[in-house]
Amino acid sequence: MSGEAAGPTVRRLADWSAADLTELADEYGTPLYVTDLDRVRENARRLLDAFPDAAVSYAVKAHTGRAVLATVRDAGLGAECASAGEVVRAIDAGYDAVQYTAVNPPAEDLDIVLDRWRSGVDLTVVAGARDTIDRLRDRGFDGRLALRVNPGVGAGHHEKVTTGGHAKFGVPYDRAPELLAGARADFDVVGIHAHAGSGISGDDLAAHRELVARMGDLAREVGDLEFVDVGGGFGVPYREDEPPLDLDAVADATREALGDVDAQLAVEPGRYLVADAGVLLTRVNTVKPVDGGDTDGTVPVVAGVDAGMTTLLRPAMYDAYHAIRNLTDERPERPVTVAGPVCETSDLFCERRPMPTPRRGDLLAIGNAGAYGYEMASTYNSRPRPAEVVCEASPTPRGAGGERRSPGNRTRSGNGGIDAVRLARERETLAHVTDLEVDR
Ligand code: LLP
Repeated sequence: MSGEAAGPTVRRLADWSAADLTELADEYGTPLYVTDLDRVRENARRLLDAFPDAAVSYAVKAHTGRAVLATVRDAGLGAECASAGEVVRAIDAGYDAVQYTAVNPPAEDLDIVLDRWRSGVDLTVVAGARDTIDRLRDRGFDGRLALRVNPGVGAGHHEKVTTGGHAKFGVPYDRAPELLAGARADFDVVGIHAHAGSGISGDDLAAHRELVARMGDLAREVGDLEFVDVGGGFGVPYREDEPPLDLDAVADATREALGDVDAQLAVEPGRYLVADAGVLLTRVNTVKPVDGGDTDGTVPVVAGVDAGMTTLLRPAMYDAYHAIRNLTDERPERPVTVAGPVCETSDLFCERRPMPTPRRGDLLAIGNAGAYGYEMASTYNSRPRPAEVVCEASPTPRGAGGERRSPGNRTRSGNGGIDAVRLARERETLAHVTDLEVDR
């Protein structure tokens, strides 16, 4: 391990500086995503330390902000992309080699991605259907191809993100040798790929191990491969008392399960890089007791906030738990339901969770918002998407970047201090939401 640069194994919501976050909310408004690029670097370091011999790529879908992509690239990770848009954004952020995992790829995606390949991008396409291979061949692609295999085993934090066994993904395991052999005539067949699912915790390690073992068997059967990609999915602790994943143990288990193969191990985590590098700041606008009664008493209250399922979809979509902290005050606890402004019952960040009694104007921080946060934001209810700021201790120089150093005790992450801050994405306005309407 390379010690300090890899940082602590987990960064909890309590580790962030309340004073610094409050200052950011005051300056940039709410709802606001805050991403700490130093923490992204630490997470990258820990991954590289745990998998020193593997090819480690970032599944960019977790957060495609340009500053994040550039940070991950500079840290030495590859880029795994799930769409033409992600491929283009990774290239724009400085990547000259990308892996494109084509899941039922629309024609336009194939055209755009292969255009980039023709103009010199070092592209690896991961195809998950014979049909996709045919469409690549029809378009004149004869470059690096990997085959996505359905490993028949899945894992994940929710059934909606458990990928491995679902027929949507990959070719049936038993068909893989024949498809690979057939593809070798027309493509540079470089690898096999499988992904069990997302948010794998210690409990899912057995499934992960089984997937890797099956991929090892397949690699030995077909031979002549450059890499065996066993996907991403490394979980992070969303609950305050949940222990962090033992990455070294996962890496050991992965190597052991893969066994002796004459090919490089490849992994492609997304969440692990960015989840605990991000928080979402939101302000309380309405407080009301649930069953009548008094907001000063102990009855449960609903605290309405200015972020909602359009800002951070995970709780509504997966019943995902996110830690919530009142940055303004530590009043006595009572059961609090934190609700967004969207007219949907699922627009809740938590229900009757014990936390300090919120008051109108309080600032709340929602933890682990860095992965699949802004990425899944929408403009439902004609609600413009939020702004995002990034911070880091030693930012790369930028011409007209609008950087500033916040006052106070600025230290590297670990004690949660926030260093140089810059706006990474402006807050949308209603004009952005209606801009493309033609019939006006
Ligand atoms: N590789 C492939 C082929 C994937 O489909 C995914 C995620 C990853 C890698 C990265 O998985 P990660 O390391 O981030 O778990 N929106 C959901 C997660 C969906 C993940 C989809 N695929 C969430 O918020 O939990």
